Amino acid sequence: MTTTTVPDIDTLRIGVLCGGDSPERPGSIASGEHAAKALADTGIATELIDIADTSLSALPGRIDVALLGLHGLHGEDGKVQGALEVIGMPYTGSGVLASALGMHKPTFKNLLTHDRIDTPRWVVVNPDISIESTLSVVRHTLAYPVFVKPSSGGGSLAAGIAHDEATLRRMIEAAATDPYAEYMVEEYVQGIPCTVGLVEVEGRLVTLPVHDVEAKNAFYDYEAKHDPTLRIEHCPSILPAPITESMHYLARRVFQMIGAHGVLRVDFLAAANGRVTVLECNTLPGLSQRGNLATMAKAGGIPYPVLMHHVVRTAFTKPTYLP
Ligand SMILES: Nc1ncnc2c1ncn2[C@@H]1O[C@H](COP(=O)(O)OP(=O)(O)OP(=O)(O)O)[C@@H](O)[C@H]1O
Ligand SMILES: [Mg+2]
Repeated sequence: MTTTTVPDIDTLRIGVLCGGDSPERPGSIASGEHAAKALADTGIATELIDIADTSLSALPGRIDVALLGLHGLHGEDGKVQGALEVIGMPYTGSGVLASALGMHKPTFKNLLTHDRIDTPRWVVVNPDISIESTLSVVRHTLAYPVFVKPSSGGGSLAAGIAHDEATLRRMIEAAATDPYAEYMVEEYVQGIPCTVGLVEVEGRLVTLPVHDVEAKNAFYDYEAKHDPTLRIEHCPSILPAPITESMHYLARRVFQMIGAHGVLRVDFLAAANGRVTVLECNTLPGLSQRGNLATMAKAGGIPYPVLMHHVVRTAFTKPTYLP
């Protein structure tokens, strides 16, 4: 997997990029602050950089490598990665193509479907198609309740359940005025939210223990993701081994399928009948010390500061064939 020599990261100036103008800005600040502190505490020259007030063109000469603590649009979707490629700045995680594929859920789901991997059935809410047509397609292809989410969202922001057509209509009308522009309607799957983290450790892709959640709200929403009293987590998961093993297998297939690099989190729902369905993947998973990736790494025997070191190294191991 390794294509270049990894420099001694203790000698590098690391810029932890976070913030920006994504709807997921608060989560990104948390990722950046935790990662920067962990690296600085191990004696590495680290600078926390909010890309909302720093031009990427100012980075060369100031830092040697960019650790990406960005999430969501304009950070996780390949645009920042492309800009960093152009200025020759090494950056952590996936390249341009995998980032874009991972961000746009309908495109990602098309790839899954092509590979016969289970993902909830879906209908894209195209802003150029009338609401009547969309409601009619949903009526004929899915059954209520349905799950509504932005095509390029994250953090459960702007997502929700529609139990009937009138509610779905209101959600689509409201969506027309928000920054996500494109939404999707998915088959509602009653199941336990699970996630699997993958991280490259010394040239080897390590699959971390499955993390599962019992959310006290109607689903694993933004509130439950940020308030530990609204969820019960298990890592390693308490689900039966055939379920967790199939998630491990699928997470690695997803990694390969999108051409991810270095680190990835793949999200699933585990239904009571044994169905395991892939919801989405995160090419820049949250890096906060309290986040799922850090929890999974800890359960897998990788302490948080060590995890951050592994993530930094991924900036220097990207195969040149990955766009
Ligand atoms: N099709 C679905 N059926 C039922 N619940 C769903 C469905 N899709 C999503 N959910 C609920 O919403 C949560 C978030 O979904 P998803 O992972 O797709 O969103 P996200 O905003 O990209 O999340 P992340 O925080 O990982 O970026 C899931 O854990 C689950 O609780
Ligand atoms: Mg998710």
